[in-house]
Amino acid sequence: MRDRLGREITYLRISVGDRCDLRCIYCRSASPRLDTKEEVLSFEEIVEVACVASEFGVRRVRLTGGEPLLRRDIARLVELLRERCDPVDLSMTTNGTRLAPLARELARAGLDRVNVSLDSLRPGRYRAITRGGDLAAVLAGIDRAAEVGLTPVKINAVIMRDVNDDEIPDLARFALERGFVLRFIELMPVGEAVRDGFWRRSFVGAGEIRERLARELPLIPDDEAGGGGPARYFRAEGLPGKVGFITAISRPFCAGCNRLRVTATGELRPCLASDMGIPLRDALRRGELDRVREAFAAAIAGKPPGHRWHEAPTRTGMDELGG
Ligand code: 5AD
Ligand code: SF4
Repeated sequence: MRDRLGREITYLRISVGDRCDLRCIYCRSASPRLDTKEEVLSFEEIVEVACVASEFGVRRVRLTGGEPLLRRDIARLVELLRERCDPVDLSMTTNGTRLAPLARELARAGLDRVNVSLDSLRPGRYRAITRGGDLAAVLAGIDRAAEVGLTPVKINAVIMRDVNDDEIPDLARFALERGFVLRFIELMPVGEAVRDGFWRRSFVGAGEIRERLARELPLIPDDEAGGGGPARYFRAEGLPGKVGFITAISRPFCAGCNRLRVTATGELRPCLASDMGIPLRDALRRGELDRVREAFAAAIAGKPPGHRWHEAPTRTGMDELGG
């Protein structure tokens, strides 16, 4: 289905829980927060949402969080989605800490591929950015995902000034040499990232990232690798991987936005940058699927034209929104 601006909605991101075992500096505050008391959607309810979405033309589904691999029996959800809605593309965004032992089961259940968040290749720095994360576990998870065919393995790196901007070439080489798809993500002014001026201080634009990278490594535009998403990709001579840039701030891609989001507690969100949401949980619980359909129609109709982050940051953080 198309929205008022002619944007075809084909992609749904579903958060399966807002808990996370890490507390990345741009996402969560240092103090562990209390888990929300509100109930998250059951697997059954998530599948129903995904199936209604497919009636509206959604072909690609991504499971996000929080950290989706913390949800018990998550491979079962993958299996149910495969059986009941069978999206063309079923993927997951994970921090990778628990990926190594779960990758095979996820692939077997029908997951197509994973995106893994990785902002540093230095163990001490990785631990600092994530406030405690174990880099070795994540690297093992990435390797395992590649082995079992959760490919192309994509890696998300948020570049922050004076935090990890000196690792731009290292991160790129890591992915290019191993055949991964690395996406440099511009730091977005949402949730925790706007606290104490962190966003203003730390933002590095994709243009600068690309320039700094090009000084070390000639990049060749690779337009075929678009993949329907907002990233623009490059490759390097003789290497199997790709690098891309998600220019949410410097070059917004709202005009081509094809997605809706569902939060862990079952709010349908038409835009990452808007606090507008339509609750689905009660209707799901009562089995009123027509109400869920109405909500999808309303969310698509009410999808904002774009973010206004230069005017006001978004209150809800990524961990709630599912990235
Ligand atoms: N800006 C950009 N990316 C963010 N993520 C979380 N918070 C932000 C932010 N403020 C990213 C993580 C991960 C995905 C879940 O969302 O790095 O890749
Ligand atoms: Fe967890 Fe992802 Fe947020 Fe990091 S960015 S704290 S891994 S939800």
